[in-house]
Amino acid sequence: MAEFLVTGSSGQVGRPAAAALRARGADVLGLSRRGGPGAVAADLLTGQGVDEALKSCGTVLHLAAGNNKRDLRLIGNLTAAAKRAGVGHVVLISIVGCDRIPLGFYRDRATIEQLALASGVPVTIQRTTQFHSLIDQLFSVQKFLPVVLGPRWRFQPIAVEEVVTRLVELAVGAPQGRADDIGGPAQHSMRELHAAWKQATRSRRPGLIVRPPGKLSAAYDAGPNLVPGPAYGQRTFEQYLREKYR
Ligand SMILES: NC(=O)c1ccc[n+]([C@@H]2O[C@H](COP(=O)([O-])OP(=O)(O)OC[C@H]3O[C@@H](n4cnc5c(N)ncnc54)[C@H](OP(=O)(O)O)[C@@H]3O)[C@@H](O)[C@H]2O)c1
Repeated sequence: MAEFLVTGSSGQVGRPAAAALRARGADVLGLSRRGGPGAVAADLLTGQGVDEALKSCGTVLHLAAGNNKRDLRLIGNLTAAAKRAGVGHVVLISIVGCDRIPLGFYRDRATIEQLALASGVPVTIQRTTQFHSLIDQLFSVQKFLPVVLGPRWRFQPIAVEEVVTRLVELAVGAPQGRADDIGGPAQHSMRELHAAWKQATRSRRPGLIVRPPGKLSAAYDAGPNLVPGPAYGQRTFEQYLREKYR
């Protein structure tokens, strides 16, 4: 069996992460429900096939997600199986500020971190800011609206490729619990992000950037989703857009 197991190996992060580990000469097995070349079909929700996949595996890079509440069961099943198999290191991705933003989705990410840390399996958790692709998607999905809506909060998007580089570095290293947060090269207002997207996509629709009322905006005002200090990511949102929409 493989030295590294990458869960979610058909996903946006998992696919390039498995490829980057292989490019370093590592022995890598992917895992997703559908499986495929270089990947085993297993379901982290039911546990089906997971024990078998983890046999003799040294490190797991856990990137499988449904991005819903069931992800709590995914981490529970994964860490239980990792313990049974004697896995030496589980690396997982999380989101900057997830423990400080009062949204159910973020609370679940913070619980996933706690479950991993309490599992008894040596773990490394890498929190990252939102991906460039997520900000792009936030605007792009609104194609049937006459305006493009966005919350008046600040973001610091990062390139998936740079997140993958960091995850691979962590996976080949020793477990370290919570690693330092990483974010993109610049903090932007939603207005700036929308203006860049509007120009790159040649959209004519105006942005309607509003401050959602209540405790959510109050929480975002403190910038829990941003990473102060020198930026990890170098690739800008504008570069991402230029390449995607040229
Ligand atoms: N988007 C952002 O801005 C951002 C920022 C920070 C962190 N993250 C985190 O990054 C992680 C990866 O996201 P992504 O965009 O790469 O997700 P994605 O593209 O949706 O990929 C999800 C992967 O998980 C697999 N999967 C889903 N359910 C599974 C199950 N029950 N058992 C086994 N495999 C399963 C999927 O394959 P099958 O369907 O074949 O099972 C797929 O390979 C997520 O945890 C996300 O929260 C995202």
